[in-house]
Amino acid sequence: MRRAFRISWTTSLLFVSLSVPVCLAQELTQRETLDSRVRRYLDGHRYAWRDMNISESDGKVLYDLVVENGYTKALEIGTSTGHSAIWIAWALSKTDGKLITIEIHERRYKQALENFQEAGLSGYIDARLADAHELVPELQGPFDFVFVDADKDWYARYLRMLLPRLEAGGCFTAHNVSGWRMRGIAEFFEELEAAGLETEIVRSSRSGISVSCKRP
Ligand SMILES: C[S@@+](CC[C@H](N)C(=O)[O-])C[C@H]1O[C@@H](n2cnc3c(N)ncnc32)[C@H](O)[C@@H]1O
Repeated sequence: MRRAFRISWTTSLLFVSLSVPVCLAQELTQRETLDSRVRRYLDGHRYAWRDMNISESDGKVLYDLVVENGYTKALEIGTSTGHSAIWIAWALSKTDGKLITIEIHERRYKQALENFQEAGLSGYIDARLADAHELVPELQGPFDFVFVDADKDWYARYLRMLLPRLEAGGCFTAHNVSGWRMRGIAEFFEELEAAGLETEIVRSSRSGISVSCKRP
């Protein structure tokens, strides 16, 4: 009996020690497969973005911010057909996070869903067809990464709504801030300053992305 126990115990140990590397290898292969699928998707669609989508260089800025800071709870306002969401979700596939993204326009929302599927990133994205003014107050959060790329007049309002739900160390980013004379952008910067957030503007394209982080 004791011998049988010893054999089965040794066998389980052998099984566990063999199966751990197998699981790790499987996970690495899955990651590589996802990476090559996303890369192939982005390369194939590089010149196909027509719905006010961000540039590839801006996408890389968002990707790096998420990966380097290990963000996992992301929110985007203004999905359009999903270019920025794909970059953010790809980064979240590395941090094991999730993105909620909101779009009000039905055709763009439906196209975004197809794009997420084709890129292999649907599992990292919770896409909502809604007016962000109505939906954002209902979202519980907290968030550690927010990207706003919708109606500029409302950037300041989105900041006011979301700041209490932004985790310490998290950052609030906004697209198209280079034209500070544009309606809404000046007010947005005043609001950032009033909130005591230090803001850096990343100019990887002509649009400019503001990055404002809450102190840890
Ligand atoms: C500049 S585009 C977003 C581009 C997208 N981030 C990308 O890079 O693929 C702005 C989008 O915000 C959407 N939008 C504007 N107001 C909105 C609102 N109140 N709620 C949700 N979406 C809104 C517009 O329909 C439009 O598709």
